[in-house]
Amino acid sequence: MNLVQTHPSSAVVVLAAGAGTRMKSATQKTLHAIGGRSMLHHSLQAAADLNPEHIVAVVGHQRDQVGPAVDAIASDLQREVVQAIQAEQNGTGHAVGCGLAAIEDFEGTVIVTNADVPLLRAGTIDKLRTAHVDNGNAVTVLSIKLADPTGYGRIVRNDAGEVTAIVEHKDASDAQRDIDEVNSGVFAFDSQVLRDGLGKLDSNNSQGELYITDVVEIARAAGHRVGAFVAEDANELQGVNDRVQLAAAGAELNARMVEQAMRNGATIIDPASTWIGVDVTIGRDVLIHPGTQLWGATHIDDDAVIGPDTTLTDMKVGRGAKVIRTHGERSVIGPDANVGPFTFIRPGTDLGEGGKLGGFVEAKNAQIGRGSKVPHLTYIGDATVGEESNIGASSVFVNYDGVNKHHTNIGSHVRTGSDTMFIAPVNVGDGAYSGAGTIIKDDVPPGALAVSGGKQRNIEGWVQKKRPGTPAADAADAAQSSSANEQAAGADGAKPDDDSVNSDV
Ligand code: UD1
Ligand code: MG
Repeated sequence: MNLVQTHPSSAVVVLAAGAGTRMKSATQKTLHAIGGRSMLHHSLQAAADLNPEHIVAVVGHQRDQVGPAVDAIASDLQREVVQAIQAEQNGTGHAVGCGLAAIEDFEGTVIVTNADVPLLRAGTIDKLRTAHVDNGNAVTVLSIKLADPTGYGRIVRNDAGEVTAIVEHKDASDAQRDIDEVNSGVFAFDSQVLRDGLGKLDSNNSQGELYITDVVEIARAAGHRVGAFVAEDANELQGVNDRVQLAAAGAELNARMVEQAMRNGATIIDPASTWIGVDVTIGRDVLIHPGTQLWGATHIDDDAVIGPDTTLTDMKVGRGAKVIRTHGERSVIGPDANVGPFTFIRPGTDLGEGGKLGGFVEAKNAQIGRGSKVPHLTYIGDATVGEESNIGASSVFVNYDGVNKHHTNIGSHVRTGSDTMFIAPVNVGDGAYSGAGTIIKDDVPPGALAVSGGKQRNIEGWVQKKRPGTPAADAADAAQSSSANEQAAGADGAKPDDDSVNSDV
């Protein structure tokens, strides 16, 4: 979504070179994800939504990870993102200098954002840019008011209310630490004033770094107009420096996603236990039960019912489908289909309209036609099933010979018995049946009944003879003597009890 018309005189510099030591992670800080996307991706997305002339990502620490991530995100965003390398992390001011060096001829408004502020919306940056231009400022900082400003740079104002400096928490006096207006890390600069200011930075501070925040004081001393634009929603500017803040930002982003789904007409019973990634789309009159997580490019069509306790990633769920206690990935569930409870859908499954994958069924790379059902306790992998077929309980599509995977084709209107093994590659024709316990190794022609295995043999009295004195032997003795008594009574003319007749055939 491009928010605004092109502003040819804008460039956005996204800082992502820091070490992020507070994360205590082998993964670079800005690659940690919330809402199914890295923080770096969120910040580059916000930059792209502004449609600026240039986007520059400053990379440095662990750039072997961050550089390729920037390239992948740029291709996703379908726009150029210039990478500037900050070889040594000498602070945010130094990082901005490295970014500007990559667009050295640029003149106009330079927006600086931090890649660890993942909730920032393009609309808010746009308001900052508008305020910056409308006020004729050379430097405008996006500030926020926080009940607990610990860790942030404080916005220092004079008696007239003008911004005079930004003082980092570590460098601040006790009186300055009481200031509740803080630097969000997002700025708008006139490019020339910024270049001049960066040239004058020094590292006389507690961290021995070049701070971008010092440009505020430098620009003011040089006679330029400096201001702050106070953001309405402080939540949006939460910086993420550690995993506690990562979880807080993730929860905030999720609250946004859940609210959006509800405003678009979905019922979400328990927003707190429902997680919706930023690329998920949800239709109207969808009902989402507690414990549901929707990730990736998942789409839920109108009237579907999802959950409880269901995780779907890159799934398409059709209109009116019901998906209960299911784990699914990269697959399609057709309209009015029924899935679950306790169903595992692996990539490449395509369940047709009105189809069913029932309890304790695992499916993988299986195309299951309209109205076909795999109701219970079955593994169906590498298979094609026609329409209106039924796979009996406890069946296995034996697709793997230890080296290669093979495919099974099942026709339409097929009825296979419980505990059928399909030894792939094998084909079962339209309208065919199999008996319970059949091992299908050879193709079954249309309309045939496949059975396998020998005739059943009962060795009478085996238990009493071989396992005498066990509970099984005692039970068998008791059953035999009671059936002998019944036969004797039946001979006297007693009628069988109606309830004993099995009418369910
Ligand atoms: C920074 C601000 C602080 C502000 C806060 C908001 C400075 C000196 N401080 O503090 O005023 O309240 O953000 O969240 O600017 N980075 C580099 N290269 C470096 C150092 C950092 O690219 O040499 C990047 C980091 O990857 C990060 C961003 O700059 O994305 C901010 O760095 P961080 O160390 O998180 O600064 P904060 O302590 O949060
Ligand atoms: Mg930070």
